[in-house]
Amino acid sequence: MNLVFLEEVESTNKYAKEHIDELNDKAVIYTDNQTAGRGRLNRVWNYMGKDNIYASIILKPSDTMKEIYSNLTQYLCVILAEVFEEYGVVPQIKWPNDIKINLKKISGILAEGVIENGKLKGLVLGFGINLNTKREILDKINQPATSLNIETGMVIDKQNFLKKVLEKFCLRYDKFIEEGFVLIKDEYIRRASFLNTDITVKVFDKEIEGKAIEITDNGALKLLDKNNMEHILLIGDIL
Ligand code: BTN
Repeated sequence: MNLVFLEEVESTNKYAKEHIDELNDKAVIYTDNQTAGRGRLNRVWNYMGKDNIYASIILKPSDTMKEIYSNLTQYLCVILAEVFEEYGVVPQIKWPNDIKINLKKISGILAEGVIENGKLKGLVLGFGINLNTKREILDKINQPATSLNIETGMVIDKQNFLKKVLEKFCLRYDKFIEEGFVLIKDEYIRRASFLNTDITVKVFDKEIEGKAIEITDNGALKLLDKNNMEHILLIGDIL
C-alpha cells in the first residue's frame, strides 16, 4: 500500500477524489489536520486533534460500478472491529457501518465513488477513528462518542493502529471483491447489537419503525413493522 501523508487537508476523501488519476489502487491518504471533514448523509466529521485517524483508501477494483462495492464500508467496519478487539474492548456494529463501544460512537466510514463518462475511476473509502480524544472534547459534539484512549486508559499509537487496519484490510480484500458481503456476514452479525431489537431507521426524510430481524446476504437491513410488513433497507441511519 502506498501511504500519502498530508500535514493538513480539508478532507482526505475530497483530496482523494480530486487526485484520483494520480493515485494508485490501494493508495492511502491520511492527515494530522483535517479542517473540513465530512460524514455520511451530508454531515460534518469534527476534527478532534492530530492523535486520531483521518484517512481514505483509494480503490480501483474495475471501471464499472458493481453492487458489492457498496458493501466495502461493511467490510472495513468488520476490519476496524477486529482491530479494536486487539486492544481488549468490545466493539458493536451499528448498521450499516458505525462502531460503538459502550453505546458511544468511536468510528465512522464514508464511501464515495468517482464516475466520469460512465466509467468508474475509483472508490474512496474514508474513515475517522477517535483514538486519543479526551472526554472534554467529545462532550462538545452532539452525539454520544468515545475514544480508544478513554475505553482502555492507554495512549494509542496512531501509526501502529493504522498499520494494523491496512494490513488486515488487504488480507481478504481480493476475496471480498469476488464474494461480497457473504464473506464477512457472520463476523458482521456477531457484533450487530441492533439485531432483534425495536429500532427507528431514518431513510432520507422518512422514518421507519420496526424490529431489526435480519441482515441479508447483501448487507441490507430487514425490518418488520407493527403491521408485519417487511422493509429491506440498503441505506439509512438507525436513530
Ligand atoms: C460518518 O460516520 O458519518 C462517517 C465519517 C467519516 C469521516 C472520515 S475522516 C476521513 C475521511 N475524510 C472525510 O472528510 N471523511 C472521512
